[in-house]
Amino acid sequence: MAHTRAKILVTKRVFPEAIAFLEQRYEVDYVATDEGLSSDQLSQRVRGVQAIVSQLTDKFNAGLIDTLDGVKVISNVAVGFDNIDIAAATQKGIFATNTPDVLTETTADFAFSLLMAAARRVVEGHQFVHSGQWKQWTIDLLAGQDIFGQTLGIFGMGRIGQAVARRGRGFSMRLIYHDAQRAPAELEKELGLEFVSKDELLRSADFVSLHVPLLESTRKLIGAPELAMMKPSAILVNTARGPVVDEAALARALAQGQIASAGLDVFEREPEVHPGLLHLRNVVLAPHIASASVETRRKMSMMAAENAAAALEGRRPPNLINSALWR
Ligand code: GLV
Repeated sequence: MAHTRAKILVTKRVFPEAIAFLEQRYEVDYVATDEGLSSDQLSQRVRGVQAIVSQLTDKFNAGLIDTLDGVKVISNVAVGFDNIDIAAATQKGIFATNTPDVLTETTADFAFSLLMAAARRVVEGHQFVHSGQWKQWTIDLLAGQDIFGQTLGIFGMGRIGQAVARRGRGFSMRLIYHDAQRAPAELEKELGLEFVSKDELLRSADFVSLHVPLLESTRKLIGAPELAMMKPSAILVNTARGPVVDEAALARALAQGQIASAGLDVFEREPEVHPGLLHLRNVVLAPHIASASVETRRKMSMMAAENAAAALEGRRPPNLINSALWR
C-alpha cells in the first residue's frame, strides 16, 4: 500500500537546505516568497497539513490554533515565540518549537554593534561624510560617549543577556542586571554581575540593553516613567521585541534629550516605525536583523526543519517549548 507522506506548510522563504531536507521526507507546501501569507491566507493554507514551519510574522492566535486539527507541530524559525499562543497550542496538543542557542552570539554581537554605533555616532558620521558636510577636523566633531569602563545595565539575564554581559566584560564595564529571576550565584560570580532592582538599573546604567522575552509582564517595560529615571547621557538598546518599549514615549524622550540616544532593531508594529523616530539624529535604526548572519540564519532554518521532522516522526522535538506535552 502506498505510504502517504505527511504534509508540511512552510509559510515563508527559508534557506534552501531546510526545504531540501523536508522535501526528502514530506510533501512540502512551500510559500517561497518574502511576503509570506496574510492572516486570511494562512488560515486557509494550514488546512490539511500536519506540520507548519512558521516565522515571527505569522500570528498563531487561539482562534487560528483551534482550527488546526491534525497539526502536530508549529515550528517557529526564531527564538522568540510571542507570535504563537503557547497556552492555546498546548490545549490543542500541538507542539511549539523555536530556534535557541544558534543565534545567541550573533544577536549579542548585534546588540553590541548598536550600542557602539549609538555611543560613537557611527551612523551620523557616515551621513556627515557621505553628504559632503566634512570640511574640517574640529575638537568636538561628532563627539560621543565612552563605552570602556561605563556601566552596562542588562534587562533579562538569559542566554543572550549573558552573551552581552561577556562582551561588556571585554570592555571593562560594570555589569548590573535585572530579571524576574535572579541568576545563579556562580554565574554572577563568573561574569561579575550585580543584581539590582529595576529602578536602580535605570538610574545607574550608562547603557540599558533589553534581553527579555515579550510577555504580558514585559510589555512596555520601558515607558515614560522608566525613561524619566534614566540618565540624560544614557543609551537604550533594544534587540528583544518592539512592544517591550513604548515607542511613542521613547521618541519623545529622544527628541527632548531626556536620554542621549537609542539603538533599535525591533519595533512595536514592524515594519512600521513610529514617525517620531524616523527623523531623529540620535537614534540608530535596524530592520530586525540581530540574528541575521548568513550562517546563523541558515542554522535557524535547519533547526526549524529538524524540529518539525522530529514531531512528525514521533520523536521529542529538540527545542520543544510546551514541554508539558511530552511525557
Ligand atoms: C528573532 O527575533 C528571533 O526571535 O529569533
